Amino acid sequence: MKIISKFAAVIGAGLAASLAFGSTANSQMAPFGDDESVAYAAKIWSAMEKLNLAGDNALLTFPYEGTDPHGMMLETFYTKATIDGYTGALIVKRNYGPAGVEADAVLNDPAKHLGAVTVMFRREAGYDDDNKNWFWVKYLPDGSLDKNPKGMQLAGKIAKGADKGCIACHTGAPGGDMVFTTDRKM
Ligand code: HEC
Repeated sequence: MKIISKFAAVIGAGLAASLAFGSTANSQMAPFGDDESVAYAAKIWSAMEKLNLAGDNALLTFPYEGTDPHGMMLETFYTKATIDGYTGALIVKRNYGPAGVEADAVLNDPAKHLGAVTVMFRREAGYDDDNKNWFWVKYLPDGSLDKNPKGMQLAGKIAKGADKGCIACHTGAPGGDMVFTTDRKM
């Protein structure tokens, strides 16, 4: 549980950052939820289906205990995917609930417990050099996009804001790669 408390400290810092900078995020051109990002997210979901990471025949692993904001039981997969001819690192996180759910309950009926699927895909250089070129997306279990409280679809450079932006929090991940769970080179 030592690891969890390390994450919890970082989450606190990330939340503070998103609260401090949140108000300006959506006043300029949206860095996420735009048509291009939404279409790109659909391609990632299709790639995940082909890789058996989404859909009816999706691979399962033994879920582990998680923490906010990603859910109380998690599964995480690390691989690569090719989108529009470009191959990059793909990290898929399945977020299960409700709070207190046991691993075997999740395995017995994953679909019933799946709350969301959060994904990071490392795009080509120049996409978002300031933030390691990650493309961020939060899917609902059926592959459609979740939305923030302002109704913006969660795909793209999800920086900051009332929805607790992915980037604001993941900036605090150890190793400077925006990935919490590993410093593996991806
Ligand atoms: C308040 C902090 C916070 C926010 C906001 C957040 N995350 Fe995370 N995220 C974490 C933590 C902590 C972990 C490691 C948890 C674990 O797997 O046990 C994590 C793990 C992940 C992982 C697995 C790779 C890794 O970093 O270890 C993905 C993929 C991911 N998050 C995607 C997202 C996306 C997409 C969003 C926005 C829609 C988001 N996250 C928002 C804290 C956050």
